[in-house]
Amino acid sequence: MKHLRSIDELGHDGVVRLLELTRHMVEINARPVPKVPALRGKTVVSLFFEDSTRTRLSFETAAKRLSADTMTFSVSTSSVNKGESLRDTIETISDMGVDAFVVRHKSTGTPWQISEWTNASVVNAGDGWHQHPTQALVDCFTVRQALGVERFDGLTLTIVGDIKHSRVARSNISAFSMLGANVVLVAPPTLLPPDVAHWPVTVSHRLDDVLARTDMLYMLRLQSERMSQGHVPSLREYGETFGLDAARVAKLPSTAVIMHPGPMNRGVEMLVDPSALPNSLIHQQVANGVAVRMAVLFDLLAGESSTAHLATVAS
Ligand code: NCD
Repeated sequence: MKHLRSIDELGHDGVVRLLELTRHMVEINARPVPKVPALRGKTVVSLFFEDSTRTRLSFETAAKRLSADTMTFSVSTSSVNKGESLRDTIETISDMGVDAFVVRHKSTGTPWQISEWTNASVVNAGDGWHQHPTQALVDCFTVRQALGVERFDGLTLTIVGDIKHSRVARSNISAFSMLGANVVLVAPPTLLPPDVAHWPVTVSHRLDDVLARTDMLYMLRLQSERMSQGHVPSLREYGETFGLDAARVAKLPSTAVIMHPGPMNRGVEMLVDPSALPNSLIHQQVANGVAVRMAVLFDLLAGESSTAHLATVAS
Protein backbone atom coordinates (compact mmCIF):
# COMPACT_ATOMS: atom_id res chain seq x y z
CA MET A 1 0.00 0.00 0.00
CA LYS A 2 1.45 3.37 -1.05
CA HIS A 3 -1.34 5.75 0.03
CA LEU A 4 -4.39 5.72 2.30
CA ARG A 5 -6.92 8.07 0.75
CA SER A 6 -10.27 6.28 1.11
CA ILE A 7 -11.80 3.16 2.64
CA ASP A 8 -12.82 1.89 -0.79
CA GLU A 9 -9.24 2.16 -2.04
CA LEU A 10 -8.13 0.11 0.99
CA GLY A 11 -10.79 -2.57 0.45
CA HIS A 12 -12.00 -5.28 2.80
CA ASP A 13 -8.65 -7.09 3.09
CA GLY A 14 -6.78 -3.85 3.69
CA VAL A 15 -9.23 -2.85 6.44
CA VAL A 16 -8.82 -6.22 8.17
CA ARG A 17 -5.01 -6.11 7.80
CA LEU A 18 -4.80 -2.67 9.43
CA LEU A 19 -7.20 -3.66 12.23
CA GLU A 20 -4.98 -6.67 13.00
CA LEU A 21 -1.85 -4.53 12.92
CA THR A 22 -3.53 -2.06 15.30
CA ARG A 23 -3.68 -4.82 17.94
CA HIS A 24 0.13 -4.93 18.00
CA MET A 25 0.24 -1.15 18.31
CA VAL A 26 -2.17 -1.23 21.29
CA GLU A 27 0.23 -3.65 22.93
CA ILE A 28 3.19 -1.30 22.27
CA ASN A 29 1.18 1.63 23.70
CA ALA A 30 0.57 -0.31 26.93
CA ARG A 31 4.32 -0.60 27.66
CA PRO A 32 5.99 1.63 30.25
CA VAL A 33 7.99 3.19 27.39
CA PRO A 34 5.60 3.14 24.40
CA LYS A 35 8.19 3.69 21.70
CA VAL A 36 9.79 1.43 19.08
CA PRO A 37 12.44 2.19 16.43
CA ALA A 38 10.33 0.91 13.49
CA LEU A 39 10.29 4.14 11.47
CA ARG A 40 13.65 5.58 12.47
CA GLY A 41 14.95 7.78 9.65
CA LYS A 42 11.49 8.38 8.14
CA THR A 43 9.88 11.82 8.12
CA VAL A 44 6.14 12.44 8.42
CA VAL A 45 4.66 15.87 7.70
CA SER A 46 1.24 16.94 8.93
CA LEU A 47 -0.38 19.38 6.57
CA PHE A 48 -3.67 20.56 8.07
CA PHE A 49 -5.53 23.23 6.13
CA GLU A 50 -8.52 22.76 8.47
CA ASP A 51 -8.77 22.79 12.24
CA SER A 52 -8.17 19.60 14.17
CA THR A 53 -7.42 18.45 17.69
CA ARG A 54 -7.66 14.65 17.81
CA THR A 55 -6.62 13.69 14.32
CA ARG A 56 -3.52 15.90 14.05
CA LEU A 57 -2.23 15.15 17.55
CA SER A 58 -2.85 11.42 17.23
CA PHE A 59 -0.96 11.23 13.91
CA GLU A 60 1.95 13.18 15.42
CA THR A 61 1.98 10.99 18.53
CA ALA A 62 1.78 7.88 16.36
CA ALA A 63 4.76 8.98 14.24
CA LYS A 64 6.81 9.76 17.35
CA ARG A 65 6.01 6.41 19.00
CA LEU A 66 7.41 4.71 15.90
CA SER A 67 10.52 6.97 16.09
CA ALA A 68 9.79 8.85 12.85
CA ASP A 69 10.77 12.52 12.60
CA THR A 70 7.78 14.84 12.37
CA MET A 71 7.19 18.23 10.78
CA THR A 72 4.07 20.27 11.39
CA PHE A 73 2.96 22.67 8.71
CA SER A 74 0.93 25.56 10.02
CA VAL A 75 -1.12 27.22 7.27
CA SER A 76 -1.53 30.46 9.19
CA THR A 77 2.24 31.06 9.38
CA SER A 78 3.21 29.61 5.99
CA SER A 79 3.84 31.09 2.53
CA VAL A 80 0.28 30.04 1.57
CA ASN A 81 -0.55 33.47 2.98
CA LYS A 82 1.84 35.01 0.42
CA GLY A 83 -0.10 33.38 -2.41
CA GLU A 84 1.92 30.17 -2.79
CA SER A 85 -0.11 27.42 -4.50
CA LEU A 86 -0.83 24.02 -2.97
CA ARG A 87 1.31 22.37 -5.66
CA ASP A 88 4.32 24.60 -4.96
CA THR A 89 3.87 24.03 -1.22
CA ILE A 90 3.88 20.25 -1.69
CA GLU A 91 6.85 20.29 -4.06
CA THR A 92 8.82 22.51 -1.68
CA ILE A 93 8.20 20.25 1.32
CA SER A 94 8.92 17.14 -0.81
CA ASP A 95 12.31 18.60 -1.78
CA MET A 96 13.29 18.48 1.89
CA GLY A 97 12.96 14.68 1.76
CA VAL A 98 9.76 13.49 3.39
CA ASP A 99 8.23 10.03 3.41
CA ALA A 100 4.57 10.77 4.16
CA PHE A 101 2.14 13.65 4.04
CA VAL A 102 -0.84 13.52 6.39
CA VAL A 103 -3.33 15.89 4.80
CA ARG A 104 -6.56 17.56 5.85
CA HIS A 105 -8.23 19.97 3.43
CA LYS A 106 -11.70 21.39 2.90
CA SER A 107 -11.78 20.31 -0.77
CA THR A 108 -12.79 16.81 -1.82
CA GLY A 109 -10.03 15.00 -3.70
CA THR A 110 -7.06 17.03 -2.42
CA PRO A 111 -5.14 13.91 -1.24
CA TRP A 112 -5.38 12.41 -4.75
CA GLN A 113 -4.09 15.66 -6.29
CA ILE A 114 -1.21 15.79 -3.82
CA SER A 115 -0.18 12.24 -4.65
CA GLU A 116 0.37 13.39 -8.27
CA TRP A 117 2.90 15.98 -7.08
CA THR A 118 5.09 13.94 -4.72
CA ASN A 119 6.70 10.52 -4.44
CA ALA A 120 5.87 10.43 -0.72
CA SER A 121 2.93 8.48 0.69
CA VAL A 122 -0.27 10.45 1.22
CA VAL A 123 -2.67 9.81 4.09
CA ASN A 124 -6.09 11.43 3.97
CA ALA A 125 -6.92 12.96 7.36
CA GLY A 126 -10.21 14.36 6.02
CA ASP A 127 -11.08 15.90 2.63
CA GLY A 128 -14.21 18.05 2.66
CA TRP A 129 -17.40 15.98 2.98
CA HIS A 130 -15.73 13.06 1.27
CA GLN A 131 -13.52 10.66 3.27
CA HIS A 132 -11.81 10.23 6.64
CA PRO A 133 -10.47 6.68 6.40
CA THR A 134 -8.43 6.57 9.60
CA GLN A 135 -11.47 7.64 11.66
CA ALA A 136 -13.38 4.70 10.16
CA LEU A 137 -10.55 2.34 11.11
CA VAL A 138 -10.59 3.76 14.65
CA ASP A 139 -14.32 3.20 14.89
CA CYS A 140 -14.20 -0.36 13.48
CA PHE A 141 -11.39 -1.24 15.88
CA THR A 142 -13.30 0.25 18.83
CA VAL A 143 -16.52 -1.64 17.99
CA ARG A 144 -14.59 -4.91 17.57
CA GLN A 145 -12.83 -4.39 20.92
CA ALA A 146 -15.97 -3.36 22.84
CA LEU A 147 -18.36 -5.95 21.44
CA GLY A 148 -15.75 -8.74 21.24
CA VAL A 149 -16.43 -9.49 17.57
CA GLU A 150 -14.28 -9.55 14.43
CA ARG A 151 -17.05 -9.07 11.88
CA PHE A 152 -20.24 -7.07 12.25
CA ASP A 153 -22.70 -9.53 10.68
CA GLY A 154 -26.05 -9.35 12.44
CA LEU A 155 -25.20 -6.05 14.16
CA THR A 156 -27.18 -2.84 13.63
CA LEU A 157 -24.93 0.22 13.68
CA THR A 158 -26.95 3.46 13.71
CA ILE A 159 -25.41 6.78 12.61
CA VAL A 160 -27.37 9.87 13.66
CA GLY A 161 -27.19 13.49 12.54
CA ASP A 162 -25.56 15.52 9.81
CA ILE A 163 -24.79 12.71 7.37
CA LYS A 164 -24.81 15.04 4.37
CA HIS A 165 -21.70 17.03 5.35
CA SER A 166 -19.91 14.17 7.10
CA ARG A 167 -16.78 12.54 5.71
CA VAL A 168 -16.77 10.38 8.85
CA ALA A 169 -20.21 9.00 7.93
CA ARG A 170 -19.12 8.23 4.35
CA SER A 171 -15.98 6.37 5.43
CA ASN A 172 -17.76 4.59 8.27
CA ILE A 173 -20.65 3.43 6.11
CA SER A 174 -18.16 1.81 3.69
CA ALA A 175 -16.08 0.21 6.43
CA PHE A 176 -19.02 -0.98 8.58
CA SER A 177 -20.76 -2.55 5.61
CA MET A 178 -17.53 -4.22 4.40
CA LEU A 179 -17.47 -5.97 7.78
CA GLY A 180 -21.09 -7.12 7.34
CA ALA A 181 -23.04 -4.59 9.46
CA ASN A 182 -26.58 -3.48 8.93
CA VAL A 183 -26.10 0.33 8.80
CA VAL A 184 -29.04 2.58 9.70
CA LEU A 185 -28.92 6.35 9.14
CA VAL A 186 -31.13 8.69 11.14
CA ALA A 187 -31.39 12.34 10.04
CA PRO A 188 -33.85 14.93 8.84
CA PRO A 189 -34.24 14.85 5.02
CA THR A 190 -32.24 18.12 4.76
CA LEU A 191 -29.19 16.46 6.32
CA LEU A 192 -29.12 13.43 4.02
CA PRO A 193 -27.31 13.51 0.65
CA PRO A 194 -29.46 13.25 -2.50
CA ASP A 195 -27.81 9.93 -3.55
CA VAL A 196 -28.46 8.15 -0.22
CA ALA A 197 -30.80 5.69 -1.98
CA HIS A 198 -27.70 4.17 -3.65
CA TRP A 199 -25.82 3.70 -0.37
CA PRO A 200 -25.72 0.32 1.46
CA VAL A 201 -27.93 1.63 4.30
CA THR A 202 -31.50 1.94 5.51
CA VAL A 203 -32.80 5.39 6.40
CA SER A 204 -35.11 6.56 9.18
CA HIS A 205 -36.21 10.04 10.17
CA ARG A 206 -37.25 8.97 13.67
CA LEU A 207 -34.52 8.20 16.19
CA ASP A 208 -36.97 6.79 18.74
CA ASP A 209 -38.02 4.08 16.26
CA VAL A 210 -34.56 2.57 15.84
CA LEU A 211 -33.03 2.72 19.33
CA ALA A 212 -34.37 -0.63 20.57
CA ARG A 213 -32.69 -2.53 17.71
CA THR A 214 -29.39 -0.60 17.77
CA ASP A 215 -26.15 -2.29 18.88
CA MET A 216 -24.00 0.81 18.41
CA LEU A 217 -25.28 4.39 18.31
CA TYR A 218 -22.96 6.83 16.52
CA MET A 219 -23.73 10.52 17.09
CA LEU A 220 -22.50 13.25 14.70
CA ARG A 221 -22.38 16.98 15.23
CA LEU A 222 -24.01 19.53 12.90
CA GLN A 223 -21.04 20.51 10.74
CA SER A 224 -22.08 24.15 10.45
CA GLU A 225 -18.78 25.28 8.92
CA ARG A 226 -19.51 23.04 5.91
CA MET A 227 -23.14 24.19 5.44
CA SER A 228 -24.15 26.87 2.96
CA GLN A 229 -27.52 27.56 4.57
CA GLY A 230 -29.62 26.65 7.61
CA HIS A 231 -30.50 22.96 7.38
CA VAL A 232 -32.43 22.79 10.66
CA PRO A 233 -35.19 25.12 11.88
CA SER A 234 -33.53 25.63 15.28
CA LEU A 235 -30.84 23.94 17.35
CA ARG A 236 -33.33 23.35 20.16
CA GLU A 237 -35.75 21.58 17.83
CA TYR A 238 -32.91 19.54 16.29
CA GLY A 239 -31.81 18.43 19.77
CA GLU A 240 -35.34 17.45 20.74
CA THR A 241 -35.76 15.30 17.64
CA PHE A 242 -32.26 13.92 17.04
CA GLY A 243 -30.27 14.61 20.22
CA LEU A 244 -29.23 11.96 22.71
CA ASP A 245 -30.91 12.51 26.07
CA ALA A 246 -31.39 10.25 29.09
CA ALA A 247 -34.78 8.98 27.87
CA ARG A 248 -33.25 7.87 24.57
CA VAL A 249 -30.27 6.24 26.29
CA ALA A 250 -32.81 4.22 28.32
CA LYS A 251 -34.43 2.93 25.10
CA LEU A 252 -31.17 1.35 23.90
CA PRO A 253 -30.56 -2.35 24.67
CA SER A 254 -28.43 -2.67 27.83
CA THR A 255 -25.56 -4.09 25.74
CA ALA A 256 -25.54 -1.23 23.21
CA VAL A 257 -22.58 1.17 23.01
CA ILE A 258 -22.44 4.90 22.20
CA MET A 259 -19.81 6.61 20.03
CA HIS A 260 -18.97 10.09 18.72
CA PRO A 261 -15.95 11.08 16.59
CA GLY A 262 -15.64 14.48 18.30
CA PRO A 263 -15.73 17.38 18.49
CA MET A 264 -18.97 17.11 20.45
CA ASN A 265 -21.51 19.91 20.71
CA ARG A 266 -22.96 19.54 24.19
CA GLY A 267 -26.53 20.75 24.39
CA VAL A 268 -27.15 20.09 20.68
CA GLU A 269 -26.67 16.44 19.65
CA MET A 270 -25.39 15.44 23.11
CA LEU A 271 -27.91 16.25 25.82
CA VAL A 272 -26.41 13.88 28.37
CA ASP A 273 -22.91 13.88 29.82
CA PRO A 274 -21.34 10.94 27.97
CA SER A 275 -18.71 10.43 30.65
CA ALA A 276 -21.56 9.54 32.99
CA LEU A 277 -22.70 6.76 30.63
CA PRO A 278 -21.08 3.37 31.30
CA ASN A 279 -21.61 2.35 27.67
CA SER A 280 -19.91 5.36 26.05
CA LEU A 281 -16.78 4.49 24.00
CA ILE A 282 -15.75 8.08 23.26
CA HIS A 283 -12.54 7.89 25.32
CA GLN A 284 -11.64 4.50 23.81
CA GLN A 285 -12.05 6.03 20.32
CA VAL A 286 -9.49 8.70 21.12
CA ALA A 287 -7.05 6.23 22.71
CA ASN A 288 -7.39 3.83 19.78
CA GLY A 289 -6.80 6.76 17.41
CA VAL A 290 -3.10 6.71 18.23
CA ALA A 291 -2.75 2.94 17.73
CA VAL A 292 -4.65 2.95 14.42
CA ARG A 293 -2.49 5.77 13.05
CA MET A 294 0.65 3.90 14.16
CA ALA A 295 -0.62 0.90 12.18
CA VAL A 296 -1.29 3.06 9.10
CA LEU A 297 2.11 4.81 9.16
CA PHE A 298 3.87 1.50 9.81
CA ASP A 299 2.05 -0.21 6.94
CA LEU A 300 2.87 2.63 4.54
CA LEU A 301 6.47 3.30 5.53
CA ALA A 302 8.09 0.24 7.10
CA GLY A 303 8.86 -1.34 3.73
CA GLU A 304 8.70 -4.74 2.10
CA SER A 305 9.55 -6.91 5.06
CA SER A 306 7.20 -5.01 7.35
CA THR A 307 5.58 -8.05 8.98
CA ALA A 308 8.93 -9.58 9.85
CA HIS A 309 10.07 -6.16 10.98
CA LEU A 310 7.05 -5.84 13.27
CA ALA A 311 7.87 -9.21 14.83
CA THR A 312 11.21 -7.73 15.92
CA VAL A 313 9.85 -4.45 17.24
CA ALA A 314 6.79 -5.98 18.91
CA SER A 315 8.66 -8.74 20.73
C1 NCD B 1 -14.41 14.84 12.41
C2 NCD B 1 -13.87 15.53 11.20
O1 NCD B 1 -13.06 16.43 11.26
O2 NCD B 1 -14.26 15.09 10.12
N1 NCD B 1 -13.64 14.89 13.53
C3 NCD B 1 -12.59 14.04 13.69
O3 NCD B 1 -11.72 13.93 12.87
N2 NCD B 1 -12.57 13.28 14.81
C4 NCD B 1 -15.84 15.08 12.64
C5 NCD B 1 -16.33 16.48 12.71
O4 NCD B 1 -15.65 17.44 12.35
O5 NCD B 1 -17.48 16.62 13.14
